[in-house]
Amino acid sequence: MILIFINPRILLSDYYQDTDIYCRMKKKFGDLAAVDGINFHVNAGECFGILGPNGAGKTTTVRMVYGFSPKTAGTLKVFGLDIEKDWRSIKSRIGVCQQENSLDPDLSVEQNLLVFARYFNIPPGRAREKAQQLLQFISLDNRRGAKVTALSGGMTRRMILARPLINDPELLILDEPTTGLDPQARHQLWQRLEELKTGGLTVLLTTHYMDEASRLCDRLVIMHQGKILVEGKPADLIREHVGHNVIEVDDPAENLRAFVNSQNLECEDLGHRLIIYGQGRDDLFHEIGDRFCTGGCILRMATLEDVFLKLTGRELKE
Ligand SMILES: Nc1ncnc2c1ncn2[C@@H]1O[C@H](COP(=O)(O)OP(=O)(O)OP(=O)(O)O)[C@@H](O)[C@H]1O
Ligand SMILES: [Mg+2]
Repeated sequence: MILIFINPRILLSDYYQDTDIYCRMKKKFGDLAAVDGINFHVNAGECFGILGPNGAGKTTTVRMVYGFSPKTAGTLKVFGLDIEKDWRSIKSRIGVCQQENSLDPDLSVEQNLLVFARYFNIPPGRAREKAQQLLQFISLDNRRGAKVTALSGGMTRRMILARPLINDPELLILDEPTTGLDPQARHQLWQRLEELKTGGLTVLLTTHYMDEASRLCDRLVIMHQGKILVEGKPADLIREHVGHNVIEVDDPAENLRAFVNSQNLECEDLGHRLIIYGQGRDDLFHEIGDRFCTGGCILRMATLEDVFLKLTGRELKE
């Protein structure tokens, strides 16, 4: 018998080198395990999403990744480097958009960018040039002299996106970048993020918008109570957990519930509405519509929101 000994430390160190983020970590606040042993990695050039209900641990996770909050236990590597030991060199390669507005209210739009450039020792001429490019990129060059307090919510979010880009980061971390924006502003921000991604930027994103995650994320995790429930590509998660389509029946008749049981179909019973996961059976909608529906009955494509609600439940978490 031939025994081959492979040193797991060598394998792991190779693995870190190929990922922009590698983590296997925990965060406790007193007795609360806000992040309760999660494990994921993000490849270079990928957009990776963290979804989860309020209080799931998303912000706590990204704060550890950008070095704002130390992990309680585990391993966290960014660009293959240890976040605690190599923080200085990691910091200069990442950009962060926090969940809250962290712009300086006393400064103008342009000054906010220029002051930020100073943290990275960018020479003033280069900083002005870069600020000009970024203001064009977010369509705010005509508001460069305005106080940031005079900007609308959408403009403020665009500024929050632009500021960390002053340093040409390799990894951009976005904590709920489009919360509170109107559809136009969200679509514009998505387009900007897609352009950045095409340029090779790695993105770590938290969001409550499932359409945003479906559109932007190559892979994502859904977190709940500090743990990761599932990980995968959006389309794979939908197919695996919900199927191809969903049938929603308002005020369902009792015999529909019996039919659903007899067909071994997965469903969610909300009382006034039955949500039936079609599992690729195209014939079901017509059969259910013809035999059991007197009120509303719709057939629609399954979405990431169905996966999210199925896995994390429908009741409020906080
Ligand atoms: N500094 C802190 N001290 C104590 N508890 C904290 C602290 N920060 C977060 N928590 C708790 O950790 C848990 C996770 O919070 P976190 O902010 O990471 O959630 P989230 O998923 O980002 O939620 P949201 O969607 O509302 O932004 C919550 O129960 C929260 O109350
Ligand atoms: Mg949060």
